This record gives sequence, structure tokens and C-alpha cells, in this order.
Amino acid sequence: MKILITGGAGFIGSYLAEAYLNRNDEVYVIDDLSTGSLDNIRRFTGNPLFHFMEGTILDREAMMELTGICDVVAHLAAAVGVKLIIDEPLKSIHTNIVGTEIALEFADKFRKKIFLASTSEVYGRNSRVPLSEDDIRVYGPTNIARWSYAAGKAMDEFMALAYYRTRQLPVIIGRFFNTVGPGQTGRYGMVIPRFVGQALRNEPITVYGSGTQTRNFTYVEDVVRGIVGLIDEPRSVGEIFNIGGKGEISMNDLALRIKTIAGSTSPIRHIPYDEAYQEGFEDMERRVPDITKIENLIGYRNHYDLEQILTRVIEFERRKLSAENQAVAT
Ligand SMILES: NC(=O)c1ccc[n+]([C@@H]2O[C@H](COP(=O)([O-])OP(=O)(O)OC[C@H]3O[C@@H](n4cnc5c(N)ncnc54)[C@H](O)[C@@H]3O)[C@@H](O)[C@H]2O)c1
Repeated sequence: MKILITGGAGFIGSYLAEAYLNRNDEVYVIDDLSTGSLDNIRRFTGNPLFHFMEGTILDREAMMELTGICDVVAHLAAAVGVKLIIDEPLKSIHTNIVGTEIALEFADKFRKKIFLASTSEVYGRNSRVPLSEDDIRVYGPTNIARWSYAAGKAMDEFMALAYYRTRQLPVIIGRFFNTVGPGQTGRYGMVIPRFVGQALRNEPITVYGSGTQTRNFTYVEDVVRGIVGLIDEPRSVGEIFNIGGKGEISMNDLALRIKTIAGSTSPIRHIPYDEAYQEGFEDMERRVPDITKIENLIGYRNHYDLEQILTRVIEFERRKLSAENQAVAT
């Protein structure tokens, strides 16, 4: 099988590419390296089954060519991360809406199955526990830039379902909750790599808001197994699936756990949201998925708990830091 992974040089995309390469499938990646990086895909260099095109999903010709070659599309390219969405609102909206429209258009033209990466942000401020796929969405006002990500991804879902209903395009929507693991960058506001980096440098670990807000974290390889399983399963077509873990942890407790596992002396410092992001920033108190639907359909199970996830991320970041320090010293 040949799969096109948009955003395949990104964090989740590169793990997804690896999963398909391990099955001896042929992988085509298009990525503009805006938040992704060549480091994420360096391990595939020389693998004849791996093909990389540096380019944007907004390039219609490139998308037409690649979609035509492949059997399936996994559309993961997006402007991601709360900080990036707030700092570059126009570019982010354009990528997340027009980019997906292009991906769907060519999947439809060549009648290719397409998996769409959506997000738990789609639920907005609905803090029901757990959140199931049919739950309502609760959004803040349009002058709070962070909501454009949720609204954009929701519009992507509407578009995909419209293609499915009106043109029978085989679409699958996966709503990822916080997906974490080695290689994720903290530059765009992702909490675990940010806390881990601060802990390893013994700098203050900065918790935004009161820190009582909770999140649920899932290991990237678990999420990837979910994506592959859904793409393989014909009954997933036309459906939306939460992909996440069970349990939740407050940001205060997360900071403490990371500090302990890393053996760090970092103090924990609270920063108001207005200072961390922008005035009037709104966050969700809780976000826990109901994963019954994906469990029942493909037998989805998470293999990694938070302790294992944090240990792996800390080990990875520790190695990276010591390599950087060595490079500076020489
Ligand atoms: N990581 C999470 O916790 C999480 C949660 C919910 C949803 N998601 C979704 O999963 C997908 C992958 O996210 P990720 O965490 O791997 O982030 P990421 O930033 O590592 O991956 C996104 C990739 O898309 C690429 N990209 C951005 N704009 C592009 C464009 N115009 N053309 C081509 N490539 C472009 C980036 O360079 C990057 O490699 C995204 O669609 C994101 O919305 C992620």
C-alpha cells in the first residue's frame, strides 16, 4: 500500500510514517517544516519506501500529484499549538481550513480513503467527563484567537462529513487528545516538553493559570496504533473517533511528577494566562475522552501509562540536552 502523510515530518506524522514503513508500506510525506523537522524523519534516510517532499499542502499541484500516486491519505498537516495559533492567526486559519479543503478535494478526485486528524479542542469548553463523540461544542467569542483552532478543525470535520454524505468519499475522523512522547517540541506551547525542558535545566517550571486544570495524556505510539487500526477497518468510514487515554492529571501534579522523575531542583511558578498567552485567554478545566467507540470497533488499548510516558520523554530530552551541551563545549 502507498500512503500519503501530510505533516509527516511532524511529531505524530513521523511516528505514523514509521509504523507504515515497519509494515513495508510505501510512505509519501509532504511537509513545509514549519513546526516539523528533518530530525524527525532522518531515521528513514536511505529507506527506498520513504519519499519526502518539502512543500505545502496549499500547493494544489503537489497535492494532486501525491494523492494520485497513493492509495490512502492521512491528513495531519496543520498549524498546531495554542501559542502558534495566537501568534499567527491568519496563517493558521488558512492552513487549517484551506489546506484541509485541498486534501479533501484531491482525495475525492482520485477516490482515495482519507483520515483526518482532528482534536479534542473541538469540544471547546464543554467540561463533561468523559467527552463522547456526539457531545456538544462550547466555544468562546471570536475575539479570543485560540478558538479559531477549534472552530477550524470543526469546520474540517463538517467538510469531511459532507464529502462522505454527498459524494460517498471514504473519510475517517480521529479526534486526538493530548498526544505526547519523545520528539515533541515545546516551542509552540505543548506542556510536557516545556515542563521537562525547564525541569532538566533546573529552571522554574511555569504552570499557567491556577494549575488545577486537568488533562489526559496518551503516548504517541498508542495514538498511531489507533490511526492505523481505523484506516484498516472498513466500518470506521464516515465516523468520528476520540483517540486518547483514560485518567487525568492536574497541571500542578504534572509539574511535580516531572520534577520528581527528572530529579530536578526547579521551583514551580504560576503565571497568569493573560501573561502566558493574551488578555482574555480562556482554557478548559478538564478534557477526558470517552474511548468506548474506538475500543469496541478495533479493540483499541493504551499500552503506556503516564509514568512510562514521562520517563521516556525525560530520557529523550536529557540525551538531547547533553548532546547540545557537548556540541557547545567542543
Ligand atoms: N499533539 C497533539 O496533542 C494533538 C492533539 C490534537 C490534534 N492534533 C493534530 O494532529 C496533527 C499532527 O500534530 P502534531 O502534534 O504532530 O504537530 P506537528 O506540529 O509536529 O505536526 C504538524 C506538521 O504539519 C506540518 N505543516 C504545517 N503546515 C503545513 C503546510 N501548510 N503544509 C505542509 N505541512 C505543514 C508541520 O511542519 C508539522 O510537521 C495535527 O493535525 C494536529 O492538529 C495533535
